[in-house]
Amino acid sequence: MRDYPGDRVDLRSDTVTQPTPPMREAMAKAAVGDDVWGDDPTVIQLENTVAGMLGKDAAVFVPSGTMSNNIAIKSQTNHGDEILTHRNSHIYLWESGAYASLAGCSISLVDGDWGQMTPAGVQQAIRKTAGSNYHFPDCKLVCAENTANVGGGSIYEQKTLDEICQVAHENDCRTHLDGARLFNAVIGSGVDPERMVRGFDTVSICLSKGLGAPVGSVLVGDLETISKSRWWRKTFGGGMRQSGILAAAGIYALENNIDRLSEDHIRASRLAEAISRMNSFSVELGAVQSNMVYVQCNEDSAKEVASRLASRGVDVSEETDSIVRAVAHLHITDEDIVRAIEAFEQSQ
Ligand SMILES: Cc1ncc(COP(=O)(O)O)c(C=O)c1O
Repeated sequence: MRDYPGDRVDLRSDTVTQPTPPMREAMAKAAVGDDVWGDDPTVIQLENTVAGMLGKDAAVFVPSGTMSNNIAIKSQTNHGDEILTHRNSHIYLWESGAYASLAGCSISLVDGDWGQMTPAGVQQAIRKTAGSNYHFPDCKLVCAENTANVGGGSIYEQKTLDEICQVAHENDCRTHLDGARLFNAVIGSGVDPERMVRGFDTVSICLSKGLGAPVGSVLVGDLETISKSRWWRKTFGGGMRQSGILAAAGIYALENNIDRLSEDHIRASRLAEAISRMNSFSVELGAVQSNMVYVQCNEDSAKEVASRLASRGVDVSEETDSIVRAVAHLHITDEDIVRAIEAFEQSQ
């Protein structure tokens, strides 16, 4: 599918997807109300749908994945607590330090291959005030990410996720899953979504990444936590009015764009395999488990490679000085992958 203007192959991110004509039609037809008053029927439908899919009691629709993660943190911690996450997680790297500025939390970081934590690593990094002679903060929330974006889009083994949640709960910590690309993990692993998130107290999913909606994320959890999250959403300025127009795009995405994620995964792995055979680049093929390809540039800087690719009509994102990222999504076709492979070949 292309359905979007321009002839560039835009592999910078799956966030560049644009609403397709049938999605726009669903948005135009949406029944709306005032969601801050709680009477937008389409928002209520979206929230109930996502809560049902993930087996949780309640859900709240928010403008972004960043807000979703941070109202989850704010609702499950007190000022001065500590949260725990992977060193390369989105919550730590790319959310402006909101865990500190908005929630007043410190952060304990866990290392691990492919952006993934191990249960032992989590156990080791949990700090508790009790027994520390008042020296440690109290870790109250463990946050995992699936798929793990900076881990190459890798997907956790279910056993690892379950054990991380068990370790967290045994240590009196709540558990949050940043599932910005949860459905990529579901499609890539074949695990049922409700089963995948069973151990998590809260889960955030994004509608505006691979699922192709223009805006929006949904946070799910128990009634009390989601009720607190609604309050923090309002506090952070995320209360929206006739947001049924946006929720309709989300419902359309959930109904039509989940199964097709497998096409993105196949295209990403085709691209990864071809690039990994080129001398100037390396790809850790084992980590390519969903729609992303992190490419190590062995000879030139990421900036130079990205600019050569751009001059051939292919856009990638520069992740570090030596790594570029290419992401397959709704608007990327088989022909685009062929074009991208040629552009990488010519950019060595
Ligand atoms: C893993 C992950 N979590 C959260 C987010 C934040 O989403 P948003 O850009 O909607 O704030 C992103 C964005 O790319 C992401 O990759």
